[in-house]
Amino acid sequence: MLREQSRHFDRRSSFRGHPQKVVSRWGRVPIKTVLAALATYATLLPQNAHSETSARLGGDLTSDLPFPLALQVAAPNVTAPERRELQASGFAPFHRLRTQEEGLGPLFVNNSCGGCHVNNGRGPANVSRSPALPSQMVVKLRIRGRRGLSASEMGSQLLDHSTQGSAPLSARLSWALTEGQYHDGTRYQLRTPKVILHPKNSSAGRVATSLRMAPPIIGPGLLEAVPWTTLFKLSFAQDALKDGVTGRLNWVKDARSGALTVGRFGFKATHPTVEQQTAAALYTDMRMTNPIFHDENLTAEVSESELSALTMYQRLGGVPAAHSQSSPRAAAGKGIFFSLGCELCHRSTLFTGKHKDPELTHQTIHPYSDLLIHNMGPGLADGVQELGATGAEWKTTPLWGLHLLDDRSKASVYLHDGRARTIEEAILWHGGEAARAQHRFTRLSKRERADLIHFLRSL
Ligand code: HEC
Ligand code: HEC
Repeated sequence: MLREQSRHFDRRSSFRGHPQKVVSRWGRVPIKTVLAALATYATLLPQNAHSETSARLGGDLTSDLPFPLALQVAAPNVTAPERRELQASGFAPFHRLRTQEEGLGPLFVNNSCGGCHVNNGRGPANVSRSPALPSQMVVKLRIRGRRGLSASEMGSQLLDHSTQGSAPLSARLSWALTEGQYHDGTRYQLRTPKVILHPKNSSAGRVATSLRMAPPIIGPGLLEAVPWTTLFKLSFAQDALKDGVTGRLNWVKDARSGALTVGRFGFKATHPTVEQQTAAALYTDMRMTNPIFHDENLTAEVSESELSALTMYQRLGGVPAAHSQSSPRAAAGKGIFFSLGCELCHRSTLFTGKHKDPELTHQTIHPYSDLLIHNMGPGLADGVQELGATGAEWKTTPLWGLHLLDDRSKASVYLHDGRARTIEEAILWHGGEAARAQHRFTRLSKRERADLIHFLRSL
């Protein structure tokens, strides 16, 4: 892999031909600085030497079953019958349509986890279609003029459905189109969503919105099992590289223990564990109280054992194996991925530490994320601060499982608000800390772009 990287390094160095300052894959930085930084990076991250990846993206949890079974059935290394049973016991609570009798609502966004995370994968981009059709996106709300969502307000989101007819507030998406072009003259079009709340004349006028699509649920247990010290070292190493990439940890409160810990789930990494993210989804999207999030003096509508089943279902589910990684085009695309600097954030290899689930312990995984939050520039910013993350900061989205998508299908949307209709569009939106990588992408030839996309779609 190192040789592959340096080949791209050389090619890019010569093609802009600057006399003193070599144009490296990190932009206009003297080559010595780049090498010194690389050395620091390597010592900080012993695992970087292992960046050679395989199709076994989820380590021993990698599943060869077809989608969606790969995500829904216990991973192959979950072998004990009682562990497989525990995982399977979460299928029904995840996919069942909840009713008012069970505690749904009265206001809610969707009546099942699977209604948004379709087949455990990502959801399409739609809100408030009709009172009968639940929304599949979430609109977080913030009263303008106040700083950020506090922990107690994190549940502040649009509840556009009701168990008793229609909800008082709903939303509509309108899309603004902009045009641009690649360095080779190829034109492209991007779209930006605007959330329009109804009725307009209520306090909704003073409300800022943050639109979120439902991300796919792939290997969340493994992401939970990566030691926080690894992530901390990653952020440190990124700073040392001076390529503009400066990811950071989002410190949040663990709702069970009250301790300050590292956020990993959600587009702004606001929840530290699969269990807490699940409990928050029950409480905020379905308005169902549970052992972690509940109103005062109210018994939990979802029991401790049901919450545990939901959690284990996700934690011990499989990670789909990558496809045709060894094809020449995928290999070329992978080289480009490294040479553009994509891998600085979308880390190919991470190692899990010790976890209370033995199946998740000490795995070599290829999620293509550093789980850090990055300032992605004004284009992607929505101005809504959430706990420690600013409106411009987003967690690096893991890229494993991209082969499950099909750009021709309407359901395949990318980025936190589903604005990107293709992988190309998702890359073109990168700004801020990823501006250099984005710029290098726009200068690729058509063939190189296609190879890169080919690689991403093999994951
Ligand atoms: C209304 C749609 C909706 C429903 C219902 C819903 N989710 Fe989500 N889910 C989302 C959105 C949107 C996000 C991203 C949230 C964010 O950015 O903070 C998310 C994030 C997640 C994540 C984190 C994924 C990651 O990689 O960061 C997990 C895990 C999850 N949901 C599980 C569940 C479970 C379990 C349920 C049912 C109890 C559920 N969700 C119900 C929309 C939904
Ligand atoms: C500075 C860190 C950083 C760099 C460098 C970076 N990305 Fe990203 N990437 C992100 C973040 C953060 C997101 C999520 C942004 C959002 O949802 O608004 C993301 C999202 C994506 C997505 C969308 C995934 C999905 O499922 O929605 C793709 C595809 C992607 N990146 C590919 C790339 C490629 C290819 C490169 C190199 C040209 C690259 N990224 C460079 C941080 C980075």
